[in-house]
Amino acid sequence: MTRPLIGTSWKMNLTSSEAAAWFAAAVPALERLDDRDLFVLPPFTAIHVARDALCRTAIAWGAQDVHPDDAGAHTGDVSAAMLADLGCRYVEVGHSERRRDHREGDALIAAKIAAILRHDMRPLLCVGERTPGRVAAALDHVTRQLRGALGASDAGELGRVVVAYEPVWAIGVGAMAAPLDHIQAMHAGIHRWLAARDASSTPVLYGGSVDATNAGPIVGLDGVDGLFVGRAALDPETFIRIASIELEGGRERD
Ligand code: PGA
Repeated sequence: MTRPLIGTSWKMNLTSSEAAAWFAAAVPALERLDDRDLFVLPPFTAIHVARDALCRTAIAWGAQDVHPDDAGAHTGDVSAAMLADLGCRYVEVGHSERRRDHREGDALIAAKIAAILRHDMRPLLCVGERTPGRVAAALDHVTRQLRGALGASDAGELGRVVVAYEPVWAIGVGAMAAPLDHIQAMHAGIHRWLAARDASSTPVLYGGSVDATNAGPIVGLDGVDGLFVGRAALDPETFIRIASIELEGGRERD
């Protein structure tokens, strides 16, 4: 039985003062959930707030981006060493909004993953097709993204990665989560890709319009190892409801 991994990226939301209020509202309920792993990825400016609120709990915190170099003349950027020093356990890479807004491609994403691993944190790699369509075409796209970001990683490194399957068309205001059969087929395909590289224990999360209603059915699917939540988690009460979903037995994958 795998422990589900449920987390949120706040994207560019919540000031550090608002973050403090979010943690004050959420942590008492979240820290009681000891049969699952939880994480929060605030903006850079609130990571220290997350550390102060979470350091005496089992809830992890992390960042939404990183520069591939360890230090140097890169104005405005933040290195993996800086994030590790703040106690970050997860660092997100490859989100579709960064691919879109900053034209991030495979080589840069792979270099960021290497930096995260060098500093003993876990890369959370987002992959997903851009438009709704057949599973075969979507898997082709996602497999190309996996190869581009992780093709040079060995099994040991792959074992430290978390993959988030996030169909781009299911993300954000106005979108709906992907249908359950699509999610299950995509997760099976991603797990096959990982298993072929001796990384069958790498968790694959689902992200894209997760809310308190669909979280249970999605996390109950074979091959879904957890959830990655965006806008629904900005309300601490809603994130508590999502993180608290009842888990069925028999979530074993292999
Ligand atoms: P959403 O974002 O839950 O607001 O759709 C998900 C994501 O981008 O990870």
